[in-house]
Amino acid sequence: MNSCREDVYQKVAALLQNIKNKRGASLALTGAGISTESGIPDFRSPGSGLWEQMDPMETLSAQVLRERPEEFYIRGFRLLTSMKDATPNLAHQILAKLEEAGYIQGVITQNIDNLHHLAGSRRVWEVHGNTREAYCLSCRWRGALSELEQQVAQGSIPPRCPLCGGNARPAVVLFGDPMPVAFNEALEAVKKADLLLVVGSSLSVYPVAYLPELVRHLVIINLTPTPQDYRAEVVLHEKASQALAKIYDRLEGKGL
Ligand code: APR
Repeated sequence: MNSCREDVYQKVAALLQNIKNKRGASLALTGAGISTESGIPDFRSPGSGLWEQMDPMETLSAQVLRERPEEFYIRGFRLLTSMKDATPNLAHQILAKLEEAGYIQGVITQNIDNLHHLAGSRRVWEVHGNTREAYCLSCRWRGALSELEQQVAQGSIPPRCPLCGGNARPAVVLFGDPMPVAFNEALEAVKKADLLLVVGSSLSVYPVAYLPELVRHLVIINLTPTPQDYRAEVVLHEKASQALAKIYDRLEGKGL
């Protein structure tokens, strides 16, 4: 049985190698599952997922931010700022190395934890925004989220734009927000890609969950089954860092 599993890692390595050799494009698509090994809970894992403890439509809702800012800045905002001490894990680091070695052209991430940037990934499409930045709803100001953190800590809710005094908000895509330009860019990149390597996503939230339907070669690394496993060439129901380390070893023949 074990030899069968070894073939599977080799199969993914060969797919990435062949696509690289013919100057094709491979991309990674990551979800919250890649960051659980960095101590950030995901949303839907039974027993530990955040959405078992709170209602996402209330906690990270654009409507609540608009109509009940006090509620948003007491719960949702605290969730957003709770990730800033996390550090990239081996899975983030391997994706950055795969990009550096030319096996993938970038990472499309649903995560807002900035860990792909910190791991050294260069081309990152943050299709659900990020927790580094904030912007003004009235003028063109865009700055650090810490600007809002300071105001909220002093009880100034909603936080104000430092330039025009208008309402400022986090640059995270909340439920009810339109998708950012980064999603359209990621969509165009996937349309031109040969392979999509999904890592740590339940593929249950659209429109991101459409992306795997657009590629010829789909590889899914996820602890639990996803609705798109049936269309994947390779499915690895195991930890992201373990699976990626085995794939990487076969590509470069060296440990990390
Ligand atoms: N290795 C591999 N997979 C893992 C690991 C791990 N170490 N830990 C958890 N997983 C898997 C879980 O089994 C789960 O299926 O990662 C998946 C994470 O799925 P979700 O919690 O649904 O997260 P995600 O797919 O990113 O959610 C998409 O939903 O709530 C919105 O905006 C939020 O961006 C998020 C979007």
